[in-house]
Amino acid sequence: MCGIFGYIGKDDPLKTCILGLEQLEYRGYDSTGIAGLVDGQIAVCKEVGKLSKLKEKLTLERLEIAIGHTRWATHGKVTPVNAHPHQDFQDSIALVHNGIIENYDALKDEMQKQGVRFQTETDTEVLTNLISKFYEGDLVAAVQKALSHVKGHFAFALLHKAHPGEIVVAARECPLSIGVDDERTESIISSDPNAFLGKKLNILFLRGDEIAKVERGKVSVFDKNLNPIAKKTERLDAGSGAPSKEGFEHFMLKEIHEQPSTIQKAYLGRFEDGLVQFESLSHDFRSASQVCFIGCGTSAHAGAIGALFLEDLAGIPSHYEIASEARYRLLPQNTLVVAISQSGETADTISAVREMKSRGFKVLGICNVKNSTLTRETDGCIFLKAGTEVSVCSTKAFTSQITVLYLFALYFSGKGNIDELKKIPAQIEKVLEQEPRIQHIAKKYSRYDNFFFMGRRYMFPTCMEAALKLKEISYVNANGYAAGELKHGPIALIDSNFPVIAFCANHQTEEKIVSNLQEVKARGAPILALAPEHLKGISKIADDVIWLPETTDPLSPFASTVAGQLFAYFVAKERGCDIDQPRNLAKSVTVE
Ligand code: F6R
Repeated sequence: MCGIFGYIGKDDPLKTCILGLEQLEYRGYDSTGIAGLVDGQIAVCKEVGKLSKLKEKLTLERLEIAIGHTRWATHGKVTPVNAHPHQDFQDSIALVHNGIIENYDALKDEMQKQGVRFQTETDTEVLTNLISKFYEGDLVAAVQKALSHVKGHFAFALLHKAHPGEIVVAARECPLSIGVDDERTESIISSDPNAFLGKKLNILFLRGDEIAKVERGKVSVFDKNLNPIAKKTERLDAGSGAPSKEGFEHFMLKEIHEQPSTIQKAYLGRFEDGLVQFESLSHDFRSASQVCFIGCGTSAHAGAIGALFLEDLAGIPSHYEIASEARYRLLPQNTLVVAISQSGETADTISAVREMKSRGFKVLGICNVKNSTLTRETDGCIFLKAGTEVSVCSTKAFTSQITVLYLFALYFSGKGNIDELKKIPAQIEKVLEQEPRIQHIAKKYSRYDNFFFMGRRYMFPTCMEAALKLKEISYVNANGYAAGELKHGPIALIDSNFPVIAFCANHQTEEKIVSNLQEVKARGAPILALAPEHLKGISKIADDVIWLPETTDPLSPFASTVAGQLFAYFVAKERGCDIDQPRNLAKSVTVE
């Protein structure tokens, strides 16, 4: 995945590049690096770890142009030598890359036979040397020749010491945007159009092996045969700059606390005169006879809840598929595909969308980030309006997703009301008020390394989501199971060192989950139950209970989710984990 940034213009390229990388760090933080030109020579500085490490140890002072990179490792360990930018064996090119060169091994073998020596384990170094091999004075032509030999998906930016005023960029499937100001005094390259430092720019997006020569205030774009092409530019809303923790210790905690308001933002103005209206939809998607939700991780869990909403509230057969698997499945004709993604950049989701569209299915996006790839590639998009989610661990985006999905089910059904939904923000406040108690309980459970999370119906995807939160930020083994499934194998793992977190808020299946709890209690599991206030008897079975406000079954995921988020947060805190940027992860996963 990774983030790439580049700058030529009136401002200090080095400082601008650092600011750009700050905004792209969500795409990976295994290592960071910057390269630029100084007096006709390439200068590079790179460090393992977050951007703050690079800033501490920065050896660069002045650059004439700059490219930068923030890495989520794919090929090669997290080491200084594998960090980007990479250089060719002649030290004339520096290159930053997002994506994967699938045939890098074969290309490397071939070049090694021709005498090229490689320093790293990366596919990027292979790409850099390939371009160097084809270079005969024209950088764009060298890139074009190299692209015809490369398999995979990528976006990259490079500079050459003999071309002091240009950065050459190219993209296949991975996002790359270039912005130029009205006065033509600067050009910025970024993996994310929202990382243009709040500047008002005319922005274009590269696709399908397009190559661009980027100069100060000027961009020339070529297709894969080197024919010049006129690209349409867009004027995007300038982002509002870096978000703040607003006094909370972590972005995750701040974002958990934002939920009463972000949920409101997701439904306000969208239910008028008894009908749901999504302001951004020009197409009517309701002629579909079934719906397939796709997404990854947390967004897939939202899709699982969305499928239940569609069936229960609108009577439309629905299911969800994990996006990386969805593209291989057969779907009945007249299926509407709903792609859910907070970032709108998740490669697995985008690839599935492209596949579904190529098969003729209509695809609706549900997304938080404006101008992201998903929003440009779907037949329509509903926005979450949750504001920037900074913490890698997704919280407020999930509850906004299920709010939008609830409305979406009402939109399909053409009837219903949102009276119960409107009570949810206040109910979440009630859960947030229990924070000290949840912290106390989390402290007690933080010594365990294995957990089962279990639930039925609406609580099944809800418990999978809660288990995901715990494992990603606390590094403990937590698995979400349909409670009825435990006895078909997993229960063999249960002992007094294996707590069960039981999500009991689905009324329809309440009696069954109580029986399942008896089964795990009989085998010695410590039990934490998340239960609605009326289920008083649960305290005789569970060791600890987090009490939740009463609501309907479809709306039960909200309060349970927030309690699960707080539980995961405080377990991670107790275990001393890096909560906002957990190891091995990135906010936006742009490789398949
Ligand atoms: C978990 C988490 C991930 C993302 C997943 C999809 O807390 O954040 O599981 O939900 O990578 O990301 P988006 O929604 O951006 O497509």
